Parts: sequence; structure tokens; C-alpha cells
Amino acid sequence: MSRENISLNRDWLYIDNFKEEYIDRYYDDSSFTAVNLPHANKEVPYNYFDERSYQFISCYRKKIVIGSENKDKLLFIDFEGVMTYAKVFCNGQYVGEHKGGYTPFSVEITEKVNFDEENVITVMVDSTERADIPPFGYVIDYLTFGGIYREVSLRIVDKVYINNVFAKTLDALKEDKKVLAEVYVNNQGNLKGDFNLKVSLCADNKVIAEKEEVLELRDGLNNKYEIMLDKLKAIKLWDIDSPSLYEVKISIEGCEGYKDSFNVRVGFREAVVTEEGFYLNGRMLKIRGLNRHQSYPYVGYAMPKRAQRKDADILKYELNINTVRTSHYPQSKHFLDRCDEIGLLVFEEIPGWQHIGNEEWKAVACENVREMITRDWNHPSIFLWGVRINESQDDHDFYSRTNAIAHELDNTRQTGGVRYILNSDFLEDVYTNNDFIHTGKEIVLRNQKAITGLDKNVPYLVTEYCGHIYPTKRFDNEERLIEHALRHFRVQNRMALDKNISGAIGWCAFDYNTHFDFGSGDRICYHGVMDMFRIPKFAAFMYKSQVSPEKELVLEPLTLWSRGERNEGLIVPQVVCTNCEAVELYVEGKLLGKYYPDKENFAGLEYPPVFIHEIPGDWGVSWGDAEFKGYINGKEAVSKIFSRNPVPKAITAAADDLTLHSGDMDSTRITYKIVDQAGNLVPYINESIEFEISGPGEIIGPKLTAFIGGCIAVWVRTTGEKGSIKLKARSSRFEAEEIIVEVL
Ligand code: GAL
Repeated sequence: MSRENISLNRDWLYIDNFKEEYIDRYYDDSSFTAVNLPHANKEVPYNYFDERSYQFISCYRKKIVIGSENKDKLLFIDFEGVMTYAKVFCNGQYVGEHKGGYTPFSVEITEKVNFDEENVITVMVDSTERADIPPFGYVIDYLTFGGIYREVSLRIVDKVYINNVFAKTLDALKEDKKVLAEVYVNNQGNLKGDFNLKVSLCADNKVIAEKEEVLELRDGLNNKYEIMLDKLKAIKLWDIDSPSLYEVKISIEGCEGYKDSFNVRVGFREAVVTEEGFYLNGRMLKIRGLNRHQSYPYVGYAMPKRAQRKDADILKYELNINTVRTSHYPQSKHFLDRCDEIGLLVFEEIPGWQHIGNEEWKAVACENVREMITRDWNHPSIFLWGVRINESQDDHDFYSRTNAIAHELDNTRQTGGVRYILNSDFLEDVYTNNDFIHTGKEIVLRNQKAITGLDKNVPYLVTEYCGHIYPTKRFDNEERLIEHALRHFRVQNRMALDKNISGAIGWCAFDYNTHFDFGSGDRICYHGVMDMFRIPKFAAFMYKSQVSPEKELVLEPLTLWSRGERNEGLIVPQVVCTNCEAVELYVEGKLLGKYYPDKENFAGLEYPPVFIHEIPGDWGVSWGDAEFKGYINGKEAVSKIFSRNPVPKAITAAADDLTLHSGDMDSTRITYKIVDQAGNLVPYINESIEFEISGPGEIIGPKLTAFIGGCIAVWVRTTGEKGSIKLKARSSRFEAEEIIVEVL
């Protein structure tokens, strides 16, 4: 093994301003603060803060010692993501810069390093909304935060090394499948002669197929070599329910002693949007998805691997959707890795929002297409590249360029580009459109021809709906929360019944921080089906219920079961999100009726909601406890109880993980809920909550805060050492059970 990747995520020095003298290797940086990556240049409050507070230029310094055994090697610093512009120096000398906060870049430090001595890497980070870099130049409906918010590592390679590999999995639906590996080799030593190129396909660390070729080394950078594995038999497909993954290992070895290896993970699948719908592995699948912003409370984008992966799990397993759109930019590689592992389809797009800048700006956007695709082309979960600026106007030349770049780099995937204008110039393979027509009235989605203005059907996907049309807080009035859920139900239903619409991706998964001129004025867009802590609103249960009861039983009555919550004192209709075949409602132990999914109005959904339009009897005078029972195969399978008189009884505490890792920053979320005697959330309680932490962990955000609508979550991050993190939490009335997280 010749390549070495060394994490540089711990022990940086940071200051919230920038002066030229910080570049100097010998600058006295004792006034800097010790920080770890991912890092937010500024932690912000949950809401009501000034979004200019993180828009400034800051400086990071990192000291590294590199042993002289590496003196014949090439040394690179790899940055996964720095918001928004970075200029990098090594021992006082300029080594590179990068525009754009969502894509990776590398700088070479080979010539600038002093071996066996301390070397200083200085990074000037400009987190202002620079008009020369997408998505900036006008206004955008989200915050981009600042800092070195993704990981950094040191890469040590020989003078000839593999720059990148695109391992194309071909003929997925044939018995004999293929892998065509496109291997990009950099020859920085201008070495000559032949080299061995070897490719192996592996599953569970066992080699399935292998091939070796002797090739002539060419001069220069990014030389493309191809090597093919064919007649691959008994390969399992990557699919949403069985996402089989394989590893492609590439290695090179030259007669002059250089060698390198590069491994990528792949899946075999065919994913294509046609005029008749989306086909995954030859089977029609309606795309049912949500948009995701990558932001979190307090630290914005700066969340480590585990939290990124958890979001994919939430989308797949708590919301039971099959697709996510990474609105409006390339997201963490950890998120995408997890999507591969669990079978969650991804539509990934370049950074941007409504505004197209000048030629310089467009050049950065084109570079973003290149950087996004060359970073992510091996992810089987990604089926579509978004090569337009979200919701921008047509620009024939610019979008011809972005499409050409995408097609040239990757001839295995289609392009899309999200618009909201009608009759838009159709340059992509898939017409992707935000259809916000549904305002609670009869029209739910438009026919595609009314949008495209074309006289024939084309591959068509709805990429946003709901959102700002009906912003809804998790602690809003019950009727609003129900209507929010029903709007998502209606759009999904209408989409499913329309054979010319391949799917619909709703706005959006999680509430997100935004600029003052969007959202509710408090710097939050309450457009999520979950809040910023990823705690569900009623609309989340709509998505959750669309799963086979064999996988998971869902019975979620959209009710607080209280008599005066709704307008006019009404308590009907009761709406139940469920995958049960029938639901019974009991009040005070008395059966009021058996109710069935509304197949008439929601014929497109596999699991329509159940409506209870009338509740007979005289319970309007006296108020009783309720029990909803769900039936499967004629038998009671699941039940949910609501108390007539909910009283707060306890705080429940649930950690996503009880084990974390030392070393690179790790984190987990702990969710606290105040519950009543039936175990239901008490949704309008707002009392204080105070955390106390000990051991090798720290709280992200404030230690003293307030429940928001009966619950709140907190992320705890590791400090680097091993041991037990103990987390206590108390409100003015209750104390939660202590959470102990072991850091191994
Ligand atoms: C869309 C936009 C999204 C978000 C959404 C709110 O127009 O693409 O980023 O702003 O509206 O509903």
C-alpha cells in the first residue's frame, strides 16, 4: 500500500478574523482558539439571529509534522468542504484556493514542506455571500453558514498516482454484467515506461473477478485508462429493498517503483426516467421523496459523519420514502454513502437558487458540475444529476454547457434541472419541475404538458410541492397540522395516478434556518414534515404510513384528542395515517365504529388515510379516554391510547446511539419529550430544560434552553478521548433518566 490518508480533523487553531500576518509560519497564534472539524465559524441561536453574524472572513491554522521518509512522495491536503472561499498557505507560501462551499478540493504542499519539523497550514476562509460564487449574487431561501465545515486530510502518494476512478457498472439487467473502470492517472514525475493496471471486483472482501494489463505511462495529469471486467455472473442488483454493494479495487504499479491503490464502492442497477415513468431495474417505481437541506440547529452545516448518516436513516426508515433530493447543492459524502447502503435514491444538484450570475460566476457553476460528478459518480443511489440553478430562468448557452459537461463525464446517468417557469427550454433528459399549484383546493398537480408546453410527453418528475404554500410548525393548531399532512397525501396520490409523472419529491424533510426575508421572520422556514431536530409533525406520518405492515405497523391518529383545540369545538374528522386494513375507535371502552382506508379519494396510495367523519353518541357532553385499534387480517394488531385529561408525567430521553468513537469528532442526538400518562407528547408545554454533561463529550448549542412544543433534541459531540459521557437533563418539574454514552 503506497497511498496514505491521514485525518487532520482534530486540533486546529481558529480566529474569527483575518490578517495577512496570520499566513506567516512563525506568527504567534496564542490568541487563536483550539477547535476541531467539522467546525462552524460561528454558533448561532436556534432562531431570531442575524444571518450576517457568520458572514465574515476567518482564519484556521493547523500544525503538522511530516516524516522525512516521505521526501520522495507527493503531499496533498484534501478539503471536503469549506464555506465559501478558501485560500491556503503552507509555511507562509500560497498553495491554492477554491471557490464554492459544497465541493471538495485539494492543494499540493510537496515543495513547501520541511520534513521532521512543524509545518503550518493556514487557511483564509471567506464565508461572506460573495456575488462571484454560486449560490450567491441575489437572495436565497436558506443559510449557508461558514467555516471549514467538512473533513480535512493529508494524502501522501507516489509521483505517479491515481487521481480518480469511475467504475461504471454496465449491463445490470443482463445475466453477464460488466465493470468498466475509467482510471485517471497523474504522472507528476514525468516518469516513463510501462505500468501494471489491475482491477478487482470484490464482495465481502472476497475477489469475484480480476484483471491485469500492462500499459504505457503517459505524461501529464488526469490521463484516462480503461480496464474492463466482463462476463460477471451471479451479481446481485442494487435495489431499494436490497441495496447490494460491491467494491472495485484498482491498483497501479510501475517499473520505477511507484504504486498506488484506489477503492470505490459500486452497485449494479439500471435507473432511468422515461415518458412512462421511472424504472429501477426494469420495474416501474413511483418516486416518493422529500428534499433535504443539510443544516442543523446551532452549528448549521458543521455536523460529523454519524449525524449525516442518521439523516439518511430517518428519511428511509422513519419516513419510508424512496428518494431524496439534495436541495440545493452536493451534500456530505457520508450522507450519500449511507443512501447507497440503505437503498435511498438520490437526485443531486449543483449549488444555486433562482439567480444566474455573470460569466465568471457561470464558470464556477460549470466547475461545480464537474466537481460534483467526479466526486459522486460511483454512488449507485444517485440516479439523476441536477445541472441547472434551482428555479432559474432559461439560459440556453449556459445550460447547454452544464448538460454537455455532465454527459461527457458520465454517460450512464440522466440529467435534470429544476425549474418553476412554464415552457422552459428542455435541454436535459428529464424535465424536473416544482409544482406548487396545490393550495388546498381541487387542483393538486398539473398535467406535464401544461408545464412543459410540449406536444408530447417527456420524462417528467415533480421536484417540489407544499413548502411555502402552507408553512406549518410542529406545535401549530391541530387542524393546520392535519391539513398540512393531507396536502402531502393529496399530491402523492395525484402523482401516483398520473402515468406521465414519474414521482414527486416534497418540500421538504426538515425545517431549516433561512434569511429574514423568507420563512416566519425568525430565520426558520417551517416547511419540513419534521422540525429542525428531526422530530415529526403530522405530515411525517403520511409518509411513514406508506410501508407494508409486514415491515412496520403504522397507526398514527392525527389528533391531540382534546375537545377545544379545533375551531368551533369540532373534533371530526379524525384522520388516521395507517397501513392497517381497518381502524376501530373506542371511547371510554365503548366501540364507536370500525373505519376503513379512504380508497375512493386516495386510490393512488397503497395505504390511504382513514377518516372518521362522525362520532356517534353523547360523548360531546362528557369527554372520555380514546383508543384507536388497527386491524390486520381481521385481528387487532396495534393500538394507541389518548387520555381525556392529559397531564405531564415525565420526560423521556432517547439517544440515537449509546456508543460513539474517539478520534475524529463523533456525535449523537438525544431527544427529550414531556409525555402524559398515556405516553403521548404534551405538545404545548414550553418549560425550561437544563443539561449537565460529564466525560469526553460536549453539548452542541445552549446548556439551558426550553422545550419547543413539548420536546427538544440535543446533539452531543465527542472531544477525542475515550470514556463515558453522562448526560443529565431536568426541567422545572421533571428529571430525565441519565443517558450514558460510551466512547470507545
Ligand atoms: C422553492 C425553492 C425552495 C424553497 C421552497 C419553499 O421555490 O426551490 O428552495 O424556497 O420554494 O417552498
